Amino acid sequence: MIPTIKWEDAFIYIIDQRKLPGKKEWLVCRTLQDVITAIREMAIRGAPAIGVAAAMGLALGSQTIKTKNYETFKKRFLEMAGQMKLARPTAANLRWAVEKMIRIVEIMNHNTAEEIKGALKKESQIILERDIEINQKIGQNGLQLIPDKATILTHCNAGALATGGYGTALGVIRAAHEAGKDIRVFVDETRPLLQGIRLTAFELIEEHIPVTVIVDSAAGYLLRKKTIDLVITGADRIASNGDMANKIGSYQLAVLAKENHIPFYVAAPLSTFDLTLEEGDQIPIEERDPKEVVTLAGQKLGPEGLSAFNPAFDITPAGYISAIITEQRVLRPPFSPGKRWLIS
Ligand code: MRU
Repeated sequence: MIPTIKWEDAFIYIIDQRKLPGKKEWLVCRTLQDVITAIREMAIRGAPAIGVAAAMGLALGSQTIKTKNYETFKKRFLEMAGQMKLARPTAANLRWAVEKMIRIVEIMNHNTAEEIKGALKKESQIILERDIEINQKIGQNGLQLIPDKATILTHCNAGALATGGYGTALGVIRAAHEAGKDIRVFVDETRPLLQGIRLTAFELIEEHIPVTVIVDSAAGYLLRKKTIDLVITGADRIASNGDMANKIGSYQLAVLAKENHIPFYVAAPLSTFDLTLEEGDQIPIEERDPKEVVTLAGQKLGPEGLSAFNPAFDITPAGYISAIITEQRVLRPPFSPGKRWLIS
């Protein structure tokens, strides 16, 4: 399984996902700003993976704070945390990781700056390792939902590359394959950045799991023909009522799945839940550069001067979701807010 991110010596190394599957290239991040840019420009992407990157980036940034005074250290760290939070707006995991790092600084108010820096680096490593364990648990919990000989449709990339490792939606698929279930996967190409054809197909082929790519607009045809037994995606943020934000195109899949009586499952860690939000329409949706829509592999697709609109995510209302698979258990509708098991 290809690693997403690692800390070696003084720097953070990120597999540059913009270049996959053609090139496996490590992007070296020497500063906090390098990590923020890598997240913003999607060298690393996927909600849990950007949470890990945010934690590591802040730990790296903290190494450059020179003061020995706690209050000055904290002030400088909070500025860095504020910059990191702005890297991408939709995924809950980024904020979750930043808040976790801030808490370390806050509780270590009697420690030296060097001790705090050490604890921040250690915490970022723990977040990475825990994320892999969490995904394996999601995989095990999701196994019951995958029948033998299932044909599965997934969207975007919710695999090892989108996480610390193993994957969420792809983790469930991986676990089913490891358990000996005979499964095959259809993956949407996922325009405009093609995470489906470039990343998900790449991961599935590496694992020898049969995979077929379709254009995004073919999904309805397959669902109506009952070629698909279930749809499974990851999530970027889940509100208290179970509404979820995920890669643009997820909502239409969920509606089409319901219309055709096919289950639509979401696999996500508890760090993706945002219980401060009552419903999905409160989730900020990232709008990316229109150039991503009007170009493909550097080639202009449309006429000169063409405008484009490029929302990166959409909201799937809870009513379309058959179950949410977490590391603790499989949640079934109605999803009720503020339950104790949702506090990670
Ligand atoms: O824009 P991206 O590639 O970061 O979007 C990623 C997704 O929408 C994933 O499906 C989601 O983050 C779940 S990843 C485990």
